[in-house]
Amino acid sequence: MSLSNEVARRRTFAIISHPDAGKTTLTEKLLLFAGAIQIAGSVKARKASRHASSDWMEIEKQRGISVASSVMQVEYRDTVINLLDTPGHQDFSEDTYRVLTAVDAALMVIDAANGIEPQTIRLLQVCRARNTPIITFVNKMDREVREPLDLLAEIESHIGMDAVPFSWPVGMGKSFGGVFDIRRDRMRVFRPGSDRIAQKDEDVIDGIDNPEIAQRFNTAWSQAKDEIELISSASQPFDKAAFLDARQTPVFFGSAINNFGVHEILDALVDLAPSPGPRHALEREVIPDEAKFSGVVFKVQANMDPAHRDRVAFVRVCSGRFERGMRLKVSRTGKETRPNNVVSFLSQRRELLEEAFAGDIIGIPNHGVLHLGDVLTEGETLTFTGLPFFAPELFQAVEVADPLRTKQLRIGLTQLGEEGAIQVFKPVAGGALLLGAVGQLQFEVVAHRLKSEYGVAARMMSTRYSLARWITADDPKDLKKFMDANAQNIAYDVVDAPAFLSGSSAQLRVAQELYPKVQFHALREHG
Ligand code: G4P
Repeated sequence: MSLSNEVARRRTFAIISHPDAGKTTLTEKLLLFAGAIQIAGSVKARKASRHASSDWMEIEKQRGISVASSVMQVEYRDTVINLLDTPGHQDFSEDTYRVLTAVDAALMVIDAANGIEPQTIRLLQVCRARNTPIITFVNKMDREVREPLDLLAEIESHIGMDAVPFSWPVGMGKSFGGVFDIRRDRMRVFRPGSDRIAQKDEDVIDGIDNPEIAQRFNTAWSQAKDEIELISSASQPFDKAAFLDARQTPVFFGSAINNFGVHEILDALVDLAPSPGPRHALEREVIPDEAKFSGVVFKVQANMDPAHRDRVAFVRVCSGRFERGMRLKVSRTGKETRPNNVVSFLSQRRELLEEAFAGDIIGIPNHGVLHLGDVLTEGETLTFTGLPFFAPELFQAVEVADPLRTKQLRIGLTQLGEEGAIQVFKPVAGGALLLGAVGQLQFEVVAHRLKSEYGVAARMMSTRYSLARWITADDPKDLKKFMDANAQNIAYDVVDAPAFLSGSSAQLRVAQELYPKVQFHALREHG
């Protein structure tokens, strides 16, 4: 198959939701329907053992939340689907933002009882800023939930896109009869599904005026029919260009736990979601089917596999074809690397990979050579921007209980810092390292991982800091002047970018007024 055909048959998307909306369930069912796993790990079993096929880390098992973002690849209808899971918990939102830089579309899962929830709003803002097309799945229709018209209005107002229903629910909760497929003019009758069989939703009644629908679903149907007529006349018709431009989102209703609606989502990914598009590097536009390989590291994870104490860099292939053993150059350092045991992902199983194409995600085990945001090419220097680091809002100083483990603490923190799990600051005035986080849980995860992966019992202590700003100046002399005068409040981050740490926004304002030539940044973009 030609390179262009390989690229054209790829779909790379992230699945996003507020915790508990059903993301894990839907992910498992997508894998089940695409034939990737024989038996979807039942969510009940997962909750009992705190383990799902897409969860990696011990801490996840303990807390039942997804900390790591994992990658899965399946083939469906001759299309290669790369599915990137994202942590639902807001304390790990930075990780999610970075994952969103690696995809071409997003699948948003909404709990029909709760509508759009706070964590979804933040993720949507990132999608909006990047013009990422979104497919919407409204889950849990087998429960007593909100009226679908309300949900549609809420989706539209929150995401600022027109919501175009592709299906419409008939009843809900105990009286949930199924969905009417608006575009194919037929009703798909609800049947609770099992975890084992990816049965298709076979029971179908054709035609909106078919009396059989009215007979079987009487009042639920008369309401649904009125609503379908209303939305058909009031809402915009689906326009694929508007969807790809993130101005419209197709909406599907279903019940993931019952396998209902899952098939439609897979079809939507194949039929609607875009194949990999061009990416803007600072140097030039990179076209996915150009002959030369390029890829960008959007995630680094240490110690994924306890048997191999390595770090895996997750690389989104931006162009060309990757071949195992090919010589690659890291744009940041100019160094060459020749990854041999590159892995692809199917959840916990890591399989050795021979080749990959634009849109795919590959994992390159390494010992710290690859950092977040690094670009790999066949020789050319390319810089992709846009990988976000947010100024932390919470700070703790970290010390090791046993001074003999100081070195391990430094190694552990450097690795976890490079991975982006936490931000590590080295105060210029010396003293304990500082950890900066966006969410409290990050500290707990880091303490836990320091212990289990590096054998370090770390002591976390509160600090006087509550905000950080990266600092730059056009003239290095101005920056130095500021840093010398404020040495007590300056620290270097993991890539040695200086930051001003302060205890209050008033203190920051004063610094800004006194040093107008210094720029203070709440966001650091790699590159
Ligand atoms: P998340 O990854 O987004 O956090 O959600 P997850 O899939 O873990 O699902 C959260 C809860 O919602 C689970 O229940 C799951 O069983 C339930 N769920 C998912 N899809 C549906 C659906 O279509 N209908 C209904 N009624 N429930 C659904 P739980 O209470 O956490 O566990 P369990 O004890 O019910 O298994």
